Amino acid sequence: MNPASATIVSGQESEQRMSPEEQHSSPEEKPKSTDTPPTIADEKDSTSESATELLLNLHLNKAPISPTDLVSEKCSDESEKLLVSPKETAGEESEKVKATVKMQNTAEENSDCSSNGANGKMIVLKPSPSVMNLDQSFDSIVSPGTGRQTGHLASSESGSMMVDEAWERLRKSFVYLKGKPVGTLAAIDPSAEALNYNQVFVRDFFPSGLACLMKSPPEPEIVKNFLLKTLYLQGWEKRIDNFTLGEGVMPASFKVLYDSHRGKDTLIADFGGSAIGRVAPVDSGFWWIILLRSYTKCTRDHTLSELPEVQRGMKLILNLCLSDGFDTFPTLLCADGCSMIDRRMGIYGYPIEIQALFFFALRCVQQMLKPEGGGKELIERIDKRITALSFHIQNYYWLDFTQLNNIYRYRTEEYSHTAVNKFNVIPDSIPDWVFDFMPLRGGYLIGNVSPARMDFRWFLVGNCIAILSSLATPAQATAIMDLIEERWEDLIGEMPLKITYPALEGHQWRIVTGCDPKNTRWSYHNGGTWPVLLWLLTAACIKSGRPQIAKRAIELVEQRLSKDGWPEYYDGKTGRYIGKQARKYQTWSIAGYLVAKMMIENPSNLLMISLEEDKKKGKPRLTRSTSWSC
Ligand code: GLC
Repeated sequence: MNPASATIVSGQESEQRMSPEEQHSSPEEKPKSTDTPPTIADEKDSTSESATELLLNLHLNKAPISPTDLVSEKCSDESEKLLVSPKETAGEESEKVKATVKMQNTAEENSDCSSNGANGKMIVLKPSPSVMNLDQSFDSIVSPGTGRQTGHLASSESGSMMVDEAWERLRKSFVYLKGKPVGTLAAIDPSAEALNYNQVFVRDFFPSGLACLMKSPPEPEIVKNFLLKTLYLQGWEKRIDNFTLGEGVMPASFKVLYDSHRGKDTLIADFGGSAIGRVAPVDSGFWWIILLRSYTKCTRDHTLSELPEVQRGMKLILNLCLSDGFDTFPTLLCADGCSMIDRRMGIYGYPIEIQALFFFALRCVQQMLKPEGGGKELIERIDKRITALSFHIQNYYWLDFTQLNNIYRYRTEEYSHTAVNKFNVIPDSIPDWVFDFMPLRGGYLIGNVSPARMDFRWFLVGNCIAILSSLATPAQATAIMDLIEERWEDLIGEMPLKITYPALEGHQWRIVTGCDPKNTRWSYHNGGTWPVLLWLLTAACIKSGRPQIAKRAIELVEQRLSKDGWPEYYDGKTGRYIGKQARKYQTWSIAGYLVAKMMIENPSNLLMISLEEDKKKGKPRLTRSTSWSC
């Protein structure tokens, strides 16, 4: 996070930059929105007959979905990926119990395969000493009569209280522009300096927006306003020193200020000019597109995505990514710090998070772009890029036991297109930790691939987005879930979820982060634990038929997150400690929990965010390796 100074501002009169001293408005004082429930109409995208579609329709028609419904419907089409695996959705309660027991047994049986021997075991946490603090803070925002009891609550009870608290807090974070909700503050931590946590971050709003869409009844108005307002900001002239940024760049964040002279709300926005390292947020435009598709999916209101200015906004974002250059890869070249990890962390090059979001956004645009006005040509380019990108990622980013062994035995200096070691990766550059970390069962998409460089670190966002967008093949998605189970201690630990694994330490930390004191080992972006990622894990688990994994993670979160004051992140190898500089009451920690809960309770919510495999693309080229069936 950065001080909110030197923000780039331009735009039309009514929404001009204001100095922070002129700030008056308190978002909480503004009236709340009144939302109209969305209407349900026929969908127009090509995935309408899928299992996930069926779930959404059941949900929207308010028909209760029994687990047996899920199984039988899905089984009618062998080619569809099961949303929830039969063993986890058996209709009878006793079956559910069996399924749970089976999973734990399996994990224990498999513990032999792992190096740390602790995989898959349930972690029992003692109540934290911070329990009491939370009771006080929660009582201050919930209405009388809903105050919590002291003592140890049954998990479902405490879970539902947490949900109530989370909604209250989420609402408090709403930011209003001219009386309309347009986003959510990054955090409301009265005990810390605001810096730019009092801004609406595009990436942070994503789970808030999803929560409002998944709510019953949905509250899509804030999402629509946010999409239009950020689109308006995209139209500003963006300059850093004498350099003008690309037209399509979306802001990292924006803020509403009140102009007391004019008696109007005004906007300021940051496109990277105020960011640490002055990096533009490559992910913002992708999150914007993905949210637009979620909004459309939830409301069935195509009028928003079909607006000429919205169509133009999508095209401008894609122009930034699809323009011709010197590329030999279909992946997108990025600077360090251009996404959720917005500080130097060695993710420059072709980071998996951005590649997965890029793919996801391309597939969303495929569904939403109209052929008129140059759209047809763009759609053709998108189709080709999707094919090339999925081939590249599925083949060159994939790592499992077999592939690791292949790389370990690579020959180098191979010349010509027949080279097996295409990027001339020197086996000596494989870090020691990865040999221990790689289970016999499981695999993942590694962090980065470029000439002579494979960043073997695990990044959760990229892997989960790859599952949700169907960039990962179904077999790869299964293997990623296997890995999470096998390496539970490392990737989930005591508090979900590690943003990246392992941490950079010592010399590596010095040269890769530039001695960043905020990113010391097992802290913040460097092996820190981010509760917001719970929604992503949950969505990926449901999509790959492994909701039990998400349930275990949610249980862990419910033991501490609210008691600890909804921190932004946790530190330590197992995520035990509230982060060194973590904000409390971080909005996306709150929204992420709500989205995870709403998805696990009603898996049809997944449809708002997940994309089915593109059948036209043909069979995936990578087949399940023998190492996956350990
Ligand atoms: C931190 C995070 C970034 C997030 C921002 C606001 O800078 O690294 O991902 O968007 O805080 O919460």
